[in-house]
Amino acid sequence: MNKTMTEVALLHLLFVCVLCLGATRAGAQELRLAAPAELADSGFLKHILPRFKFKHRIVVEPVGPQDSAEMALVADATHGTPVFARDDGQEYRLVIAAPGQGPDMFLDWLTSTPGKSAITSFPRGGPPAFITELPERVVVETVEITGDVVLGSRLALAHCGRCHVVDKRNRMGGIGSTPSFAAMRARPHWIDLFSAYWSQNPHPSFTEVIGVTDPFDETNVTHIAPVRITLDEIDAIVAFVETLKPLDLGRPVKSN
Ligand code: HEC
Repeated sequence: MNKTMTEVALLHLLFVCVLCLGATRAGAQELRLAAPAELADSGFLKHILPRFKFKHRIVVEPVGPQDSAEMALVADATHGTPVFARDDGQEYRLVIAAPGQGPDMFLDWLTSTPGKSAITSFPRGGPPAFITELPERVVVETVEITGDVVLGSRLALAHCGRCHVVDKRNRMGGIGSTPSFAAMRARPHWIDLFSAYWSQNPHPSFTEVIGVTDPFDETNVTHIAPVRITLDEIDAIVAFVETLKPLDLGRPVKSN
């Protein structure tokens, strides 16, 4: 009787061990990534996936485009998140089929600075085969612009028009070397630039973002009239800038 009880206990233990093993195997993350042949054949996936594994200890195994997988890189998709593009403009998106922590981490990594530099460092030594600065259209689609355009228009002229040409209202104004709003609107990351303009020189010396930056020291008089602005007002300026026609800068000049 006693012996059988020990045996039962041992069996239980064994069973629990098998369960544990199963759990650790499932815990040691392994994800499958369905991808078009051109990404696998060129060596691109072999280039980026080990870098992700090195950073996050998650193995991503590439499989064929039709195979079942937690995630897929897809050309010409209308859903998913744009992650990179070929230099001819062909965009690739990451579509997550089985949402979870692993796929989320992979997406975050692909769009992070280390992920982008992994993408753009392929092929090694050559000009990048893929770019991560995706066309502006994509940025505009993913960021929700909620500010008040009319308010933004007024604030931009009042606060920024001293130095920047804002639009035709102060076409002859502005300070010569200061970029015009239309020129800055043409830059791919214009939303980021405008949303955080106050953190970039020369603005910190005369800008107080209420509740964000340190209040101005009233005794420290600068030669530039200080601007006190709220984050809502900055959103309004961003919404106004969205309505501006970007300056056509033509093809970027390649330097030697
Ligand atoms: C006192 C002059 C002055 C005022 C006022 C001013 N700016 Fe600027 N701004 C500049 C100058 C000069 C530059 C260019 C800095 C450079 O290229 O290093 C600049 C650059 C910028 C840039 C580009 C930043 C980058 O990282 O390339 C943005 C965006 C911008 N300003 C937005 C604004 C907004 C929005 C306002 C008003 C709320 C404003 N500025 C008010 C002088 C000013």
